[in-house]
Amino acid sequence: MQKELVKIAPAILAADFARLGEQVAEAEKAGADRIHVDVMDGRFVPNLSIGAPIVQSQRRVSRFPLETHLMISDSDSFFDEFVAARSDSFIVQWESNNNLHRTVHRIKEVGKRAGLASNPTTPAAVLEEILPDLDLALVMPVNPGFGHQLFIHSVLPKIHRVRQIIERMKLSCEVEVDGGIDEQTGTTAAEAGADVFIAGSSIFGNKAGVASTMG
Ligand code: DX5
Ligand code: ZN
Repeated sequence: MQKELVKIAPAILAADFARLGEQVAEAEKAGADRIHVDVMDGRFVPNLSIGAPIVQSQRRVSRFPLETHLMISDSDSFFDEFVAARSDSFIVQWESNNNLHRTVHRIKEVGKRAGLASNPTTPAAVLEEILPDLDLALVMPVNPGFGHQLFIHSVLPKIHRVRQIIERMKLSCEVEVDGGIDEQTGTTAAEAGADVFIAGSSIFGNKAGVASTMG
């Protein structure tokens, strides 16, 4: 996958929450394709982050697609709240959903994009049955729950395997990577088959400013 064809989704978890609107506007101006919102419940992952009110507030000021990454133990129970907050996409975790087909179709029935995230050691093969129903497959190259982590390079073959399944099944599903993405790891992830980069700390943590990373 050539890097120039890759889409960029800044992850606001790494933004300065005291000036979130400003930082998101900077990222949008610098060429972001969508905005990634990491929701954590302290149960599925050992960290708490943000909820539907943040999506709602961003929706009021941003025209960009908002994708909500639900790193929570029961995504179904919060789904309506995030739909009401007007998130455009929902990314649920393979590891925390016992009725994936029902959850994915519940997302699509309300006209939203459906994504499935899988943790580093969850095999690509388990995605095969649900991939035809997905708009995006998020291959986590970090253990979910925190920003500023190192990219786990042993996930690269899995990214490639997911891309191969998509190509074999002639699907239009995107392959996202989320965590530890910078210039170098982004290049390797794109070569493995990723076409959407989610990046938080390399964008919002950059001292030279948001635009300099995305430019
Ligand atoms: C981790 C989240 C990532 C994270 C971005 O569980 O899903 O989106 O916020 O990570 P960095 O800061 O490494 O880009
Ligand atoms: Zn995320």
